[in-house]
Amino acid sequence: MATLDNLPVLSDSQRNRSNAVKKLVVSSIQNSKNGVIGFDEFMEIVLYTESLGYYDAGDEIFGKDGDFLTAPSSGQLFGECVANELGPVLDSLDCNILEFGAGGGDLAKSVCSALDEFHSYSYHIIEPNESLWVDQKTATKDLSGGFFWHKTLPRDLSKGVLIANEVLDAMPATRYLVDKGTVHELGVALSDQELVWKEKSTDVPEQIKRVLKGYEDGYRTEMINGLEPWLNSIFSSVEELVFFIIDYGYPDSEFFREDRLDGTLRCYFKHTVLNDPFQLLGLQDITTSVNFSTVADIAAGIGFDILGFTTQERFLVNNKIEEIFVRSNSDDPVENYLLAQEAKRLLLPTEMGQYIKVMALGKNFSGHLRGFVNDESGRL
Ligand SMILES: C[S@@+](CC[C@H](N)C(=O)[O-])C[C@H]1O[C@@H](n2cnc3c(N)ncnc32)[C@H](O)[C@@H]1O
Repeated sequence: MATLDNLPVLSDSQRNRSNAVKKLVVSSIQNSKNGVIGFDEFMEIVLYTESLGYYDAGDEIFGKDGDFLTAPSSGQLFGECVANELGPVLDSLDCNILEFGAGGGDLAKSVCSALDEFHSYSYHIIEPNESLWVDQKTATKDLSGGFFWHKTLPRDLSKGVLIANEVLDAMPATRYLVDKGTVHELGVALSDQELVWKEKSTDVPEQIKRVLKGYEDGYRTEMINGLEPWLNSIFSSVEELVFFIIDYGYPDSEFFREDRLDGTLRCYFKHTVLNDPFQLLGLQDITTSVNFSTVADIAAGIGFDILGFTTQERFLVNNKIEEIFVRSNSDDPVENYLLAQEAKRLLLPTEMGQYIKVMALGKNFSGHLRGFVNDESGRL
């Protein structure tokens, strides 16, 4: 993990914004019962406060000039594979595409460029952070077809192919700690005007207590909040759907591996992984990994069918990444080098290939999905 010493110097406006974000966190702590707020509340403030938080401040986030690369912000390959998967589903459902949390708009751009003109659809972006709409509109401005932006899921779309790429890992999460054989929620408090971790006296979910029973003191883990109401609202709004959830994460057995002592919390700033969420407030990304077994349990409980679960590598291979790669090679050696780098990043087990998983949920859908030929739902 890096320290702040080897990072770029902050501008005055970055410092001012970060200080303003800190004031909001401090005020929430001071107004809270017992002077401690949940880590989920902390994430909500630093990532999502309008105009100030990480995702709504208008700074460069995605791609090489930002803080991190996502699969679609790495290039065209990922989106072309996703288009291969979506094409037949769009045909069979005769529906629109809905993308949650479209970031810089790269997936919308690459998917729509790759889908041929026989597919007539509209592309709906559900993005709560309006400042990102600007980037998304710029990315898609040369594409024909109807693009629509919404802050929340529209209620008038009865059918759809839904995608959420690296959205769940950006949602606020609660943190837990095993201390003296007991599991506690780990919140955020103040000590000498600095933010510190502090145990919070709240009820810990039974699932977390059960799983962490007997784990060694000091073990930490996270749980993404709000998944149930979020999935519920999707299930009750859309009558026929396929929903692709693509994210860093694991099934239960790997998520709670006993040697994952410090959980899955990570922070990113200028392509450096940091482990301190209390620095660079509002300037760095904060993520936790997805427990796909939990997602599957919640989704099945709501009524979704689990249509498939696999690694990003298998999903992309099943959706013909090798063919697309060969077709995309050009006479330009620099472009070919960058394309090879992109393919490695997407496929290698030490990069996104294994760490990122793809899950498909369905409602009233009986068609075939190409990406899950070697379905691994049994691991959930
Ligand atoms: C890590 S970025 C991923 C961006 C993009 N999908 C990509 O892969 O490049 C997370 C995105 O999710 C959005 N987001 C966070 N919570 C959301 C929610 N509840 N609904 C929709 N989008 C959300 C953020 O604003 C941001 O656009």
